[in-house]
Amino acid sequence: MNRYAVILAAGKGTRMKSKLYKVLHPVCGKAMVQHVIDAVSKLNVDSIYTVIGHGAEKVKSQVGDASHYVLQEEQLGTGHAVMQAQEQLSEKSGTTLVLCGDTPLLTADTLEALIKQHEDENAAVTLLTAHADDPTGYGRVIRNDDGTVAKVVEHKDASEDEKLVQEINTGTYCFDNQLLFQALSQVSNDNSQGEYYLPDVIEILKREEHKVAAYQTIDFDETMGVNDRLALSRAEIIMKERINRQHMLNGVTIIDPANTYIDATVKIGQDTTLLPGTILKGQTEIGEDCYIGPFSEISNCQVGNNTKIRQSVLTDSEVGNEVQIGPYAHIRPHSALQDQVKIGNFVEVKKATFGEGSKASHLSYIGDAEVGSNVNLGCGSITVNYDGKNKYLTKIEDNVFVGCNSNLVAPVTIGKGAYIAAGSTVTEDVPGDALTIARARQVNKENYVSKLSHNKE
Ligand code: UD1
Ligand code: CA
Repeated sequence: MNRYAVILAAGKGTRMKSKLYKVLHPVCGKAMVQHVIDAVSKLNVDSIYTVIGHGAEKVKSQVGDASHYVLQEEQLGTGHAVMQAQEQLSEKSGTTLVLCGDTPLLTADTLEALIKQHEDENAAVTLLTAHADDPTGYGRVIRNDDGTVAKVVEHKDASEDEKLVQEINTGTYCFDNQLLFQALSQVSNDNSQGEYYLPDVIEILKREEHKVAAYQTIDFDETMGVNDRLALSRAEIIMKERINRQHMLNGVTIIDPANTYIDATVKIGQDTTLLPGTILKGQTEIGEDCYIGPFSEISNCQVGNNTKIRQSVLTDSEVGNEVQIGPYAHIRPHSALQDQVKIGNFVEVKKATFGEGSKASHLSYIGDAEVGSNVNLGCGSITVNYDGKNKYLTKIEDNVFVGCNSNLVAPVTIGKGAYIAAGSTVTEDVPGDALTIARARQVNKENYVSKLSHNKE
């Protein structure tokens, strides 16, 4: 049987009180609508149509070519939204899954079970429902005495009795595609919000004596619709628990899961340990046997195996094997640290490469630099990369030793194996194997202090 999916993502999300369109709000680093698309993409569907309106271009650029798009110019309700796909879908036979772009926690397993029941029972519509402890705001599922579904009534339209019903419409449905569009054309906007409600299709299909079914999932959390920031924070917590649990089952030690924040997009190898306050974001990949945290934030970084990163911030960079970083280091974008590099406390690295075994152990700024292998940058080494207008490169070749508190004024190259005396300000290239002393020579004036006039009796 042909299967299609329609994802509703045209709303503004007024209740979020945000400049960002609702379905683009991230949950564990991934836009809500992307979570929905990813879950649907795991099912065997022929094509996905996303209904866009508010922030159409932004939603499109987020989802990319994983979906087709139809535009809903005016947001006249969820029924009206689905109608926008009429041209593309109404002639086709098969099953159409309809979901909201604001239910990021739904899993492919639940959707698969919904579709299966729908197809097995040959229903016109199967509604995904759940039991909510607090059903406020959701559409209520009203059942007949025989237990069959009669209709869905929106919270704002519900009578006092109906409001007591705790079975909610999750906003997720399976339809016989042709019956869906046939019924949609009969939906009116005669309700408290003056909108064309998609759930009204249920009552219409029932009236026409088509089979209306429901599939109640036991996991309300999974079906949560995120309309405001309170729900967003709950969704974040639930998603976070799900992600952490999966990493732990895959062999990652997480000392304090409640205080460990891992984006949905992150990969972590076996036997890595995450300490409290670890935040792993974006396209980060951590290898095996690493030790990360406490209190480290790593965004879009590739980290090898056996690496230790303590109390540090790393962004858009590559880190090799057996590297030691921190505590209190800052690795800024476009840096690459090869194996066995050591970046110690209060060291800032920006757009710099470090070859194997090189070290900047204390209190340094290394920016716009190419550092070879086995280089030792002493405490307080600074690449002077900026003249107020332009940035310049510092090249430090293999086996160089830079003494403490040295300024390397770029553009400058320090040749292989050179040795820079402590306190030097290097403004000219240094040949390989040279000893460079670029500071005033020390003068000792003996017996001088007691001769000073104020020290004379
Ligand atoms: C909807 C359901 C409600 C259900 C709840 C589950 C309706 C009328 N109500 O309510 O029964 O319990 O979801 O979470 O369907 N959208 C459009 N175009 C529009 C209006 C909405 O694309 O014109 C999109 C929104 O972007 C959103 C989704 O449809 O992703 C749902 O809309 P929303 O306003 O959040 O509906 P709810 O009030 O939550
Ligand atoms: Ca909603």
